[in-house]
Amino acid sequence: MFSTLAAAFMLALPVISNAQAPNLPPGVIATGTMGPTNPPAPTMGTALNQSSVARLLSVNAVDDFCLFAPPAPQDIGDSETFEVAWCTKQRNNARVIPDGTITGVSFLKTDFYVQIIGYGDLTKLNIPAGDFGGELDPHGAFGDGNPIGGNVTSNILGSDMNFAEWMLYIDFNQFCIRVCTNANSTYSAGNMCWHELDEMGCAFVMPGNYNVNGTFETCDADVAYPPGWYPTATVNGVTQFSTFAQRFTGTLPGGSVYTVGDLTTPASAFTTPSSSNCVTVPTISNGIALASLGLTQAGSAPAANTAAATGAPNSGSSGSGSGGSSDPNASGSASNAKTTQPSSATANAQLYPMIALWAVLSGVGAIVLFH
Ligand SMILES: *[C@@H]1O[C@H](CO)[C@@H](O)[C@H](O)[C@H]1NC(C)=O
Ligand SMILES: *[C@@H]1O[C@H](CO)[C@@H](O)[C@H](O)[C@H]1NC(C)=O
Ligand SMILES: *[C@@H]1O[C@H](CO)[C@@H](O)[C@H](O)[C@H]1NC(C)=O
Ligand SMILES: *[C@@H]1O[C@H](CO)[C@@H](O)[C@H](O)[C@H]1NC(C)=O
Ligand SMILES: *[C@@H]1O[C@H](CO)[C@@H](O)[C@H](O)[C@H]1NC(C)=O
Repeated sequence: MFSTLAAAFMLALPVISNAQAPNLPPGVIATGTMGPTNPPAPTMGTALNQSSVARLLSVNAVDDFCLFAPPAPQDIGDSETFEVAWCTKQRNNARVIPDGTITGVSFLKTDFYVQIIGYGDLTKLNIPAGDFGGELDPHGAFGDGNPIGGNVTSNILGSDMNFAEWMLYIDFNQFCIRVCTNANSTYSAGNMCWHELDEMGCAFVMPGNYNVNGTFETCDADVAYPPGWYPTATVNGVTQFSTFAQRFTGTLPGGSVYTVGDLTTPASAFTTPSSSNCVTVPTISNGIALASLGLTQAGSAPAANTAAATGAPNSGSSGSGSGGSSDPNASGSASNAKTTQPSSATANAQLYPMIALWAVLSGVGAIVLFH
């Protein structure tokens, strides 16, 4: 009887190997199979291979994380389905992010997700200078992820676990990634890693401390509202939400009046969650000689750009020299080349009502499911 029970338990939780793993709500742990190019589990100390096509990210710490980036120089938008894993350490059979690539990181631990906001010279990961980038997630056009067969783990709960919901925004000089590690009846993992705001960009979708270029910090943080959710009122102790699809004027418990949801693009998320217990390290490094990664010090070092006062990176003048990447449009990038630029008001106006409807439906669905 004991062994039957134990077997049933193991069948029910195939991915969790640690007996101390918390009992997570449905939808948090990925139960499907690992992508075909990935090792069966996250593994430290795998061989160097800068031609690897493995697609397994681990998001564990300020100095232990991976990103998806193109296998060869190409815009993110054109390579989303076949991007590969690049890791700060030798792990997961993945490619290694060369030392010096990442110039700032804020690693946040919250009750519902881990999140990294980061800066770097991501031309070293084959992203052309000036590329506005894009958004990657486990859904994708074919339902099997962008990239296809991409998987994400974190050990933040005490052991390596595969998480079902995550999102990565990445362009040539900035990225943000959230891995959703918990859920409750208000917020599903899918809500908290909502992946259809790809024109809104990092600061909106993953609020946090973006003033970290040059800093490497690890913090605890409060839980943000899911991307695009705005609290509107509290009814019988339950927070109601709307999105920015509809104009709404409400009053907070403290008495302040606010309006959300007009048809222009909202400037920001409702709040930036506060963080605490921040610990900084001077830098992150794996100590792997650049030559072992097929790079030379001179060829791979980024030119020392002076960013314009607007924050627009000075990408055009140095782009052609960095790491062999070539972007025909780099010199024309006059705007803030963030992942964050809403490029089409029309597209957004069409998107918002869908999000509003979805938010209402999923909120109701969650309540029905959990009660
Ligand atoms: C791997 O990724 C695919 C596509 O997103 C997903 O269906 C599957 O559940 C994931 N498997 C694991 C073990 O993470
Ligand atoms: C590196 O990865 C590529 C793609 O998976 C594979 O074809 C190649 O054999 C690997 N090289 C080594 C030395 O393992
Ligand atoms: C779910 O968690 C959030 C964030 O901690 C919290 O605000 C909310 O009240 C929780 N919902 C329930 C039903 O406990
Ligand atoms: C981040 O800092 C590096 C080093 O100072 C700089 O080259 C780069 O342009 C900065 N990135 C952004 C997005 O400002
Ligand atoms: C580069 O510019 C051309 C012409 O304006 C445009 O068609 C193309 O989409 C641009 N590529 C990128 C990556 O922005």
